[in-house]
Amino acid sequence: MQAGEAPSAQAKDARKDEDAKDWHVVAALADVAADRPCPAVAGGVELVLVRSGSGLRAYQAQCPHQGTLLSEGEIVERKLVCRAHGWRFDLATGERSTAPRQCLRSFPVKTQNDAVLVQLEAKPLEAKPFEAKPFEAKRSAPEQALLAPARRTLADLPGPRGWPIFGSALQIDIVRVHQMLEDWARQYGPLYKMSIMNRVAVVISDPVLSEALLRARPGSVRRTGNLERIFAEMGTAGVFSAEGSAWRAQRRLAMQALSNHQLRVFFPYLDAVASETMRLKPVAPFQGLEAIEDLVVGDVLVPKGTWLYLLTRLPALSSDNFAEAQAFEPERWLDERPAAAAHTPSASIPFGSGPRVCPGRTLAPLEMRVVLATLVRNFDVERVGAGEDVGQG
Ligand code: HEM
Ligand code: FES
Repeated sequence: MQAGEAPSAQAKDARKDEDAKDWHVVAALADVAADRPCPAVAGGVELVLVRSGSGLRAYQAQCPHQGTLLSEGEIVERKLVCRAHGWRFDLATGERSTAPRQCLRSFPVKTQNDAVLVQLEAKPLEAKPFEAKPFEAKRSAPEQALLAPARRTLADLPGPRGWPIFGSALQIDIVRVHQMLEDWARQYGPLYKMSIMNRVAVVISDPVLSEALLRARPGSVRRTGNLERIFAEMGTAGVFSAEGSAWRAQRRLAMQALSNHQLRVFFPYLDAVASETMRLKPVAPFQGLEAIEDLVVGDVLVPKGTWLYLLTRLPALSSDNFAEAQAFEPERWLDERPAAAAHTPSASIPFGSGPRVCPGRTLAPLEMRVVLATLVRNFDVERVGAGEDVGQG
């Protein structure tokens, strides 16, 4: 068509069809309330819908910080507040005004009858470009981590030599399994492989890759496939082991029950003690995941079905991330450390990360405060034995 020429009826229809194809019905208009974010999914993309002063908005649901779903957050003073660490995004623009500045990816949204439609294929109404400072570039690394081209395959990865069929199953002492995996990581590096009963597992201790994989749920990665069956057999099936739509429904209930409205924050020093304890001795020092589609992890092509073990504790024990990393120093969490001392909070993720981050991450510290406060109020605590005898695994 020449410039200025009116489009033919056929061309208009074709364009209408094309437009209609891109639009997805994601919610009923009545579901989008003014006082809370509304979760939605379209074409595998997690979305959050909000009402701003200037109309409806649809944003990426994964928080740019560590991937927690913003649809699980709160609306406070015209800001969408992330549940995990409180990052706040303007409802109308998706911008975070404090450092590190970020802007949520926004999608065109419209209403038709009583439905809300979102256009996914269109070029997103993108964030204003911010000057990338080194810190910001580092923060966005997990988003880039699974996009690099594959230069190696599983066959190229190092790892412990196991027995035929059993693989490393006979070498593993179940009581100290995380320490064995960590020792192998020190020997073979941040990406190595092992086999267990003819099944290959890739063991990952690079914190950027771990976070990227935790964020890649539920689309590309799930908890290891046998977990759901084991929990069901034990009669303890629930949100931790559920997958797919069952997980989505249970997750919503869990998040409502544990909302910040009900949990109050106080006792900063006890919080610091809890953070430091969980840095050194997290309840879950590693996580088992399974690729549910082919992935490139770092530079390694990992086929669908491969197990992925994330050694999430190891980076928290490294002096690259925490000064005097082996020492128990709660003060490091209270901004009382020398400015130059290494302190990378994102290298300690005791509650996991991404869309399946622990829903109890606000309640658990509250419980710890209550237990610690009760303990120090009612008992005198003394160490048994010499300090040198107290070690940690
Ligand atoms: C110190 C205490 C706790 C620690 C260290 C902890 C740690 C974790 C971790 C690492 C995960 C996996 C997260 C992921 O997949 O990325 C998780 C999941 C979960 N946690 Fe916790 N947790 C704690 C306390 C609690 C409490 C008190 C509750 C509830 C009252 C809770 C409920 C859950 C649930 C329901 C899941 C599964 C979430 C899902 O898969 O969507 N946790 N927790
Ligand atoms: S503030 Fe959203 S994940 Fe940390």
